[in-house]
Amino acid sequence: MRTDLRRKFRSTPVHACYTYTVSKATDAAMTTATAPLAAPIPTVAARTMRAVAHRRYGEPQVLAIEDVPAPSPGRGEVLVRVAAAGVTIGDHHVVTGRPYLVRVSPFGGMPRPKRIVPGGTLSGRIEALGDGVTEVSVGDEVIGHPVAGAFGELAVVPVDRIARKPANLELDTAAAVPWAIAALQGLRDAGRLVAGQRVLVVGASGAVGTWAVQIAKAMGGEVTAVCSEGNAALMRELGADAVIDYRREDYTAGTARYDLVFDLVGDRSLGDLLRVLEPRGTYVAGALGPGDWLAPMVRLAAVGLRGLFSRRRLAGLLAHPNRADLTALVELVEAGKARPVIARRWALTEIAAALDVVGSGRSRGQQLVRVAP
Ligand SMILES: NC(=O)c1ccc[n+]([C@@H]2O[C@H](COP(=O)([O-])OP(=O)(O)OC[C@H]3O[C@@H](n4cnc5c(N)ncnc54)[C@H](OP(=O)(O)O)[C@@H]3O)[C@@H](O)[C@H]2O)c1
Repeated sequence: MRTDLRRKFRSTPVHACYTYTVSKATDAAMTTATAPLAAPIPTVAARTMRAVAHRRYGEPQVLAIEDVPAPSPGRGEVLVRVAAAGVTIGDHHVVTGRPYLVRVSPFGGMPRPKRIVPGGTLSGRIEALGDGVTEVSVGDEVIGHPVAGAFGELAVVPVDRIARKPANLELDTAAAVPWAIAALQGLRDAGRLVAGQRVLVVGASGAVGTWAVQIAKAMGGEVTAVCSEGNAALMRELGADAVIDYRREDYTAGTARYDLVFDLVGDRSLGDLLRVLEPRGTYVAGALGPGDWLAPMVRLAAVGLRGLFSRRRLAGLLAHPNRADLTALVELVEAGKARPVIARRWALTEIAAALDVVGSGRSRGQQLVRVAP
């Protein structure tokens, strides 16, 4: 499944100058700047872009659309003109600063957000290359994982965290693909899924879950999806062999046993979850459950400790974006084995409402925001 992107991308190194504009008026000013003897001093507007600004932690309503300084790519980075961005629970954590641990992570900052423009998944077109980048070219359509910045017109992404856009998806829709990396790594690496195994996906109708169901099927798993009744038909469409409505049936109380439980909700005790595992089965904690303070860490510690004393494997998941896995996902989509499930497409000005929906934990597939005007 893994492919070396170097062979697939054009390898012409193109280095562009890094003064960017977002308005037609400013574009005109830049054109004028090329005229001999008439080069104006660049205005502040010539170095700004329209973006969602995150200046303090709080409910998504703290966000505002502002003109902010445009970023420029450093060594090993590319500048992407963003078409669309995924709006994920990860973005919700960053904006609210909860769980509080996020504030001391590379995504946060103390006492206020370190990065003005949030947004961790995107699609777009490469606008400029930083030093040392030879794998891609200006104009390439890509998907990727910036550390932040996807909710702005221009975002910087390390070149090893991008891949080409799937040929069979519109650029806008492709922004839903990067978030699938959690599903791929949860099943393949943490879960060590092999063909023929029975897999229980808890939280199967969400942004990660809809990918997990499809990827588990593509890997040869027999999939049982746990979701609410309204999403059962979608689960069948995505290939689930069985569906359990968690509001009507306690999936930990039945007689069915699974080789792998991929938990994307984290609201049940480990004891309950281990009960439905085969004696040598694997539990993957994709979600650490509710709680803003230490509860998620306590859960993670419990997963580690229980794993020491159990014949069953217990594994945490910390998705790590990388080009090889993004490319594997692109190939899966191009092969027709998985597709994004888009919950809704929002305008950039609706970012707070989109994040509110994500924060409610009721998304059906992936929320997307259009960034390009
Ligand atoms: N460890 C990592 O690296 C990593 C990476 C990405 C995501 N995650 C975690 O994975 C989890 C899922 O992420 P996501 O983006 O898929 O979230 P999401 O899109 O917000 O998932 C929401 C879905 O969960 C379902 N759900 C809620 N309560 C449920 C329950 N008790 N049983 C079964 N399904 C339930 C909802 O369905 P209904 O509306 O029908 O209830 C909804 O479809 C999050 O906790 C996220 O933090 C971890």
